[in-house]
Amino acid sequence: MKDTLPMDEKYKVHMSKYFEEYERSLKDVNGFWNENGRIIDWFKPFDKVLDDSKKPFYRWFINGKTNLSYNCLDRHIQNEKRNKVAFIWVPEKGEEKVVTYFGLYRRVNAFARGLLNLGVKKGDKITIYMPMILEAPIAMLACARIGAVFNVVFSGFGEQALAERINNSNSKTIITADGGYRKGNIIQLKNIVDKAIDLSNGVDNVIVVKNTHTEIDMEPDRDYYYDDIIEDGYVEPEQMDSNDPLFILYTSGTTGKPKGILHANGGYPVWIANTLKWAFNPKDEDRWWCAADIGWITGHSYIVFAPLLLGLTSVMYEGAIDYPKPDRMWEIIERYGVNLLYTSPTAIRLLMKYGEKYPLSHDLSSLKTLGTVGEPINPAAWHWYYEVIGKSRCPIIDTYWQTETGGFTISPSARLGLPDLKPGSATFPMPGIDAEILDENGKNVKPGEKGYIVIKKPWPGLMLTVNNDDKRYIDTYFSKFKGKYFMGDYAIQDDDGYYWLLGRSDEVLKVSGHRIGTIEVEDGLVSMKEIAEAAVFGKPDTVKGDTIVAFATLKDGYEKSPELIENIKKRIRNNLGPIMVPEEIHIVSTVPKTRSGKIMRRVIKAVYLDQLPGDISTLENEASVEEIKRAVDIIK
Ligand code: WTA
Repeated sequence: MKDTLPMDEKYKVHMSKYFEEYERSLKDVNGFWNENGRIIDWFKPFDKVLDDSKKPFYRWFINGKTNLSYNCLDRHIQNEKRNKVAFIWVPEKGEEKVVTYFGLYRRVNAFARGLLNLGVKKGDKITIYMPMILEAPIAMLACARIGAVFNVVFSGFGEQALAERINNSNSKTIITADGGYRKGNIIQLKNIVDKAIDLSNGVDNVIVVKNTHTEIDMEPDRDYYYDDIIEDGYVEPEQMDSNDPLFILYTSGTTGKPKGILHANGGYPVWIANTLKWAFNPKDEDRWWCAADIGWITGHSYIVFAPLLLGLTSVMYEGAIDYPKPDRMWEIIERYGVNLLYTSPTAIRLLMKYGEKYPLSHDLSSLKTLGTVGEPINPAAWHWYYEVIGKSRCPIIDTYWQTETGGFTISPSARLGLPDLKPGSATFPMPGIDAEILDENGKNVKPGEKGYIVIKKPWPGLMLTVNNDDKRYIDTYFSKFKGKYFMGDYAIQDDDGYYWLLGRSDEVLKVSGHRIGTIEVEDGLVSMKEIAEAAVFGKPDTVKGDTIVAFATLKDGYEKSPELIENIKKRIRNNLGPIMVPEEIHIVSTVPKTRSGKIMRRVIKAVYLDQLPGDISTLENEASVEEIKRAVDIIK
């Protein structure tokens, strides 16, 4: 942990600016946010920075009126950014497409008009289920322009998961594409939407972008082609209240039901624009590439909105980073002269496995700063990223944050002053983030001791609530340590004050950076007619972080067989999506349970990983442990 790495002199901005800004952000909340809240334009300025009268429902920039689409587009086309490239869109295969700020502005207006013509109104909820094509950010911005609340569902989710999100968000309009490309295959998105609608409470409009030109069913008076509804012209951006909802994004937690995280029109944009500026210090001429998917918060905040708010040029890549060849990422960096790269530890570990010869065969000298997100980065991957990709001259910006936090919470700050980096540490909190680490009883742990990371005070990027479920918002985030925001991760702060994030403290997994609730997968399994009980946990994996392992028991009358297991996997793939399919499913006759009937996931996992199972005094059926051991012996 003492492994400090002195940075290249040119990055050694003195840290005093960081500490000064950080302290000011906590001591003078009004002054700090009065100033930094102006990173976006307001139609009507806010008259108060923070209203904390209804804790923990914090409201920011009170009575301010703004519009995210206006801030991403209209204000830039009034100045020299008008003809600047907003996105260089790179497809999995074929030629790139370039769209300027003015071009994007025109397209967003045309789609906003199309939505209005269909009868969509301010406050309506819209589900977006799309591949990584330009129409995805266009759809998000068009919704923001007219004040419709968008709910992007990752295109790797299956029909049941999609239906649940359509229903919970109460979306009556869906924006999708005929299909999407993934490693040379076509994913039939419109077909999945059709099946999800059958499982939903009813949908009025489906808007379909022609992308793969595959054959699809179009339901009259419900389904419309995007090309047929867009209409050139200008749509006045809605004046949104700072605390009107902007979007819903579902994320996994510790129950089977995903949570709809609701973000606001004012605080969220202010937070993401400031954090991108602080952490990466992008320059006007830089090319930024956030290699995430728009279906996740990283894509929302740092592919679409923050770079546009700052008027940057971004690469947006449709495909997989190792397709068609393992050098795809390096080829894109070289071809488009990427300066700032933001990706995940999983991606780095995967590309590292292919070997150095791929990055070494490309000119990566345009790179200035490297970022990572999604899970803890292990020192070996950090060093490879730093040395092989960055040639030991690019700082690594390890950004720790979550869907709920809107943007970065702990991250080195290239703008305010970089600390000496320590491989594997996200270093220090962003301004406005008052973090601490507590033990089970809510007492501060000592430096070097592991505990739960919490944030003591609100910041503008904090979600408004959980959609339709204020109670869950309070219970999940503000109850374990009363009044403090509980992040659900373990952390350590070392003697130098650096934060080290150690992974989830709950039943949530990170599989290739995707956040997966084990209980969601269990629910998916036990909803099948053959399965009686299921226990799901994560098995550590050197590339993916976690892989999903399931133990299940069958109902009477069903026999275990390899075909059955394959069939179960296939149904999980269709219902929940490919990212939720367990890598291993083991059928046993009983699973370890407490006397009150709760499945002891922890015991199964320990036996599976050949670790000590800990306290098993409440175990009801000891034989079950023996059976798991035997099952594990057979696999190994
Ligand atoms: C994990 C992704 C360590 C963490 C932006 C968090 C990280 C969860 C890091 C949120 C990091 C994210 N170091 N762990 N730099 N970044 N995490 O909502 O467990 O998909 O709680 O947001 O990812 O995942 P989510």
